[in-house]
Amino acid sequence: MTTTTRLELPSFTRLRRLRATPLLRRMVRETEVTPADFIAPFFVTHGRDVRRPVSSMPGVCQLSVDLLVQEVRALAPLGVPAVLLFGVPASKDPLGSEAYARDGIVQRAVAALKDAVPDMVVITDVCLCEYTDHGHCGVVENGHILNDPTLELLARMALSHVEAGADIVAPSDMMDGHTVAIRRALDAAGHTHTPIMGYSAKFASAFYGPFREAAESAPRFGDRRSYQMDPANGREALREVEADITEGADIVMVKPALAYLDVIRAVRERVPHPLAAYNVSGEYAMVKAAAANGWLDERAITLEILTAIKRAGADLIITYHAADAARWLGA
Ligand code: PBG
Repeated sequence: MTTTTRLELPSFTRLRRLRATPLLRRMVRETEVTPADFIAPFFVTHGRDVRRPVSSMPGVCQLSVDLLVQEVRALAPLGVPAVLLFGVPASKDPLGSEAYARDGIVQRAVAALKDAVPDMVVITDVCLCEYTDHGHCGVVENGHILNDPTLELLARMALSHVEAGADIVAPSDMMDGHTVAIRRALDAAGHTHTPIMGYSAKFASAFYGPFREAAESAPRFGDRRSYQMDPANGREALREVEADITEGADIVMVKPALAYLDVIRAVRERVPHPLAAYNVSGEYAMVKAAAANGWLDERAITLEILTAIKRAGADLIITYHAADAARWLGA
């Protein structure tokens, strides 16, 4: 081909110029995922030397405190800065009393972790559903989930976590007014410096299915749609986030992540607060199932998903892939 024929071509944009080599591509990469972005969730259970696999979440187990400490110790050198704890109690009752018991499973786990791995940021999930016999996130009366009577229990739960040593509390119950109730209780006890990570825009999602096996927290009747958000509502998510910030949330969250990237983006554009996204159990399970069948490349797909969540606007990603992804990123 001669120069003359080239000049006769209509003009067009050569975006491939900056894709030619790995170094060029790295120079112009807009989004970088690092292990420092991750928060790793764990399910902690009573007993010693207990490692109970969760069948719908390959690689995830309920762990007793001793084994939890070992796993979290191994996580630290990978550069993952934080863990999020969920408790599997010894027994459940209508008011979820182990949730705010001084010697509850999460309270014990927090104390053990802060003792063994003091630099790791320990975040606790604040919600009653793992602890109540009906499996709902609040106090139940005549089949209704009561809002205001639940607030006091959540505040007690959050305070007991902080007294055990928790660095951040994360209320996921979706009761109205929970953030301010918790903020007041923490402040009144002198914990004015403890941040709250709100599960601000938490949708009533079928993607939580595997989690409910892991945390043994499926509701015994009905569903969570009278308190968690309708997946159809994007604008309402902004109202939830605004309310949460007004009530004292330091970090806000969108959950789930993958089917809600538009919501992550909308929140990112609206508020300057640190934004977390929860790459939930069902998202993890889908990747694991497809990878086990040889249908998807687990490593490539996971890093692509995490990058997309970050590109949408999340600063922090809660993900069951935290340890593996940190290893892949370091490799
Ligand atoms: C507790 C809670 C749930 C999740 C986090 N906290 C379950 C639910 O709301 O039913 C889901 C996390 C996941 O699916 O990975 N309310």
